[in-house]
Amino acid sequence: MRSGTAFTQGLRQAVDNGPVWTVEAVRQVRYHVVSSDGLFIPGNTALLTGCPDVPLGPGDRRLVVIDENVDALYGASVRAYFAHHAVDAEVVALRADETVKQWDAVSRVVDAMNGFGIDRRREPVIAIGGGVLTDIVGFAASLYRRGTPYIRIPTTLIGLVDAGVGVKTGVNYELGKNRLGTYAPATATFLDRSFLRSLDLRHISNGLAEILKMALIRSEDLFTLLESRGAAVRADRFQGTTRELASAADTIIAESIHLMLEELQPNLWESSLERCVDYGHTFSPTIEMHALPELLHGEAVVIDMALTTALATLRGDVSQAQADRVYAVIRALGLPLWNDVLDDPLLLENALRETVRHRDGQQRLPLPVGIGRHHFVNDVTPTELRDAARLLRTQAQESPFAASVGALVSAPVGA
Ligand SMILES: NC(=O)c1ccc[n+]([C@@H]2O[C@H](COP(=O)([O-])OP(=O)(O)OC[C@H]3O[C@@H](n4cnc5c(N)ncnc54)[C@H](O)[C@@H]3O)[C@@H](O)[C@H]2O)c1
Repeated sequence: MRSGTAFTQGLRQAVDNGPVWTVEAVRQVRYHVVSSDGLFIPGNTALLTGCPDVPLGPGDRRLVVIDENVDALYGASVRAYFAHHAVDAEVVALRADETVKQWDAVSRVVDAMNGFGIDRRREPVIAIGGGVLTDIVGFAASLYRRGTPYIRIPTTLIGLVDAGVGVKTGVNYELGKNRLGTYAPATATFLDRSFLRSLDLRHISNGLAEILKMALIRSEDLFTLLESRGAAVRADRFQGTTRELASAADTIIAESIHLMLEELQPNLWESSLERCVDYGHTFSPTIEMHALPELLHGEAVVIDMALTTALATLRGDVSQAQADRVYAVIRALGLPLWNDVLDDPLLLENALRETVRHRDGQQRLPLPVGIGRHHFVNDVTPTELRDAARLLRTQAQESPFAASVGALVSAPVGA
């Protein structure tokens, strides 16, 4: 028997049934987020040489899985780009929305990988689409031959600032959102905000909700920028049609990604359950499921943030003036403050109970302190939740047309 560095601890321990071997190993994680506008303009070389870990050149083969809506809009330029650079790309279009984010979609991607005869050492799969598509492809790739590298090219705002930059993949199972999933970072994510030009404004707002989350808990500067330029950048779909809008769009995206990566990196596998990026995600899963299909994910998150802002106001951690600024920004970004499911006090209590279950028996609830800072609490009571919902209802009624998503959809909120 040979002892070596693989056995870092306790090769032999005295136990009744014989020896015990303990194996410890550390796996290095390294991935890149590369920003480049106009990725599929023939002269843009970001996809070829922009990331040294995944070089791409003439004669290489790639399997490209693309959201079918994105294919309809950009498929011709994607194919032309690869042909121009003599890359042998097989493009597979996949329907990818929340209703089909299920195991069947994973099997379709596995079939495509089998059919392509992928060389998992040298041929990363390329995923082009929103968070649904990149989550499905990432999940399939992470299972295929115990892990095949993949590259993400997100085409929605949620993809650019959230789904595309973390390490999680997954699909829904029955009613469980992302119930099946893995921690499997893409080798590289290429960010191209020019895709947002064709994105529905409601989906732009949906992504802005996650950006606002980072601002509320981590950066008053980012909040102030959203306050002054958020509505205009939204209406411009982050395209930077003036120099001022371009600078604001660049800063908003870069800053929120930077803050997100700063929070994710020390806790990639989520071993610490006190995660400030969980802000807005305590009550929202229950709100989202109960309000389906009315609310998008970011809309449920922002309602959770409005509720917890009201709660923090009652605790004296956020002043009324600060809360008013938060509510005004939520409205200006085309997001809802309220949904009638909040009228059910039991729903909020149950949501909190469910969260406690997922957070190992404690609330670990990130709550705002002023704007841009947070702390964690474990003592929120059902009465407090009821009071916060009552307070929020009053605030929401002050701006009737933006109070609920139903109203939002029919109202011209800066669109
Ligand atoms: N893995 C993670 O860490 C993580 C983080 C946040 C969210 N998510 C997941 O992301 C998903 C939501 O992602 P999403 O908001 O991107 O939704 P989505 O992928 O459903 O895309 C929204 C809609 O926009 C269409 N679309 C995509 N790009 C477009 C473009 N450029 N122009 C026009 N239409 C376009 C899509 O076909 C779809 O109909 C959820 O399933 C969520 O669980 C994952």
